Amino acid sequence: MRNGFIMKVLAINGSPHMDEGNTAMILNPFLEGMKETGSDVEVFYTRKLKIGACNGDMSCWFVNPGTCGQKDDMQMLLPKIKDADVIVWASPVYYHGITGPMKNVMDRQLPLHLLGTQMKPQKAVLVSTCSAWELSMFDSILLQMKTIYMRPDGSSYFAGALLRPMADGVKEMIKAGETGLVEGVFRAAREAGRQLAIEGMISVELQKQVSRELMPRDAYYKAAQMMMEQAQKAMKK
Ligand SMILES: Cc1cc2nc3c(=O)[nH]c(=O)nc-3n(C[C@H](O)[C@H](O)[C@H](O)COP(=O)(O)O)c2cc1C
Repeated sequence: MRNGFIMKVLAINGSPHMDEGNTAMILNPFLEGMKETGSDVEVFYTRKLKIGACNGDMSCWFVNPGTCGQKDDMQMLLPKIKDADVIVWASPVYYHGITGPMKNVMDRQLPLHLLGTQMKPQKAVLVSTCSAWELSMFDSILLQMKTIYMRPDGSSYFAGALLRPMADGVKEMIKAGETGLVEGVFRAAREAGRQLAIEGMISVELQKQVSRELMPRDAYYKAAQMMMEQAQKAMKK
């Protein structure tokens, strides 16, 4: 709750795997945590949306200020982005960045930039997963999000990031019944949702719990290599 009002949360999941994906494994408990506080949560999947790339003609600034010339699902999404108290960008890492469809949504927000200080204060959260063991794999996405949302006039800010490296390994650990450590990750994601709704930020401690080390680097890459070889053998059969 924010000052007794229900927070409006808009989450955009940019994974093509939607609710079956690694990103949803972290996003969904986080959103559950927010719902537990009474927040009004809406989730959209880029895979289900028809949102083209920005054509860069700047007509939303200079021809019809505030209106995009393209008629697609962004017409429905733009007012929701404008209205949200919290926007959650959830994407797997693709080549050190967000997925292509997610970038389209991000770019197509341009008409809102004209509103400047008329935009209500907004908090942004990044949820991301990747295959690599190293947390540094998220550096470029994190920098992008922080730079976008840390507006100097304070009208928006970056409230935290739930980053899960070694996400493919997490799925394998669950399959193998090694759920002890992994459950701690999901609990922390849920708690982060509650905390954001109540306190307005996600603590560094909870962010660290979501990203916590689940196995040594060498062991992870060895297991990943073995799985890759097995998959290649299966393909040849
Ligand atoms: C096209 C593509 C590019 C990827 N690039 C990276 C990458 O740069 N670094 C990385 O660690 N994982 C990379 N991955 C792996 C995904 O980030 C990882 O499997 C993620 O958890 C998938 O999330 P999802 O199941 O929600 O789609 C890539 C996967 C694909 C399909």
